Amino acid sequence: MTNLIELQNITRLYRSDEVETTALHNISLHIKRGEFVAIMGPSGCGKSTLLNILGTIDRPTSGAYLFDGTDLAKTSENQLAKHRAGHLGFIFQSFNLVDDLTIYENIELGLLYRSGLKGSRRKAIESAMDKVGIAHRARHFPHQLSGGQQQRAAIARAIVGSPDLILADEPTGNLDTENGAQVMQILQSLNAAGATIIMVTHSQSHADQARRQVDILDGQLVASVAQVL
Ligand SMILES: Nc1ncnc2c1ncn2[C@@H]1O[C@H](COP(=O)(O)OP(=O)(O)O)[C@@H](O)[C@H]1O
Ligand SMILES: [Mg+2]
Repeated sequence: MTNLIELQNITRLYRSDEVETTALHNISLHIKRGEFVAIMGPSGCGKSTLLNILGTIDRPTSGAYLFDGTDLAKTSENQLAKHRAGHLGFIFQSFNLVDDLTIYENIELGLLYRSGLKGSRRKAIESAMDKVGIAHRARHFPHQLSGGQQQRAAIARAIVGSPDLILADEPTGNLDTENGAQVMQILQSLNAAGATIIMVTHSQSHADQARRQVDILDGQLVASVAQVL
């Protein structure tokens, strides 16, 4: 299998007047197409920074990021926006749904900058809702849904454009055991259908469901271990 992602010596510094924080130090990581990788490590170790760089929401201070062979460090903001719309889906701990849009409209947001979609937008939205079992709540607003339902709607928004790469930052962090397990099951089936998934988690049992676990400590990659499934 080819590498979908190659991070080479990625460093990310945050500078303010008084302090300089090294959020990531010299991270090199290859991820193959179709992998399911869990990222673990204590709070503040750089997991979200790493995920944001992988999602091109943030840029490294130094180092190279190849996506499917393309060097994203040399890519313009405009091109990166197209890259995100065409290839990436994001899932967050706090769902990040828009309060005054219906579930259907929230999911539609996932297609906002997406061009070249196969088939109709409505079909894509309905298919995404079916995959996460939220179709019966299409006309509801986020506050009318449970946390688990909101996260499933957020997953539908992330996958409606059929992304190659799903980036999930503690997707089960705000959910109870049962809803967390449901989200993991959905991620498993998306991975089985071909999506590459990178998930930050504090749950060892959820990390165990990924195919590889990457451990970060103080901004450095300390282990990358394939799981025995
Ligand atoms: N925008 C920022 N400005 C300054 N420091 C930041 C910023 N974002 C994160 N950091 C620092 O970078 C380090 C890593 O943060 P983060 O990636 O959010 O960790 P994690 O997700 O593992 O909890 C922390 O020390 C944090 O305080
Ligand atoms: Mg974080």
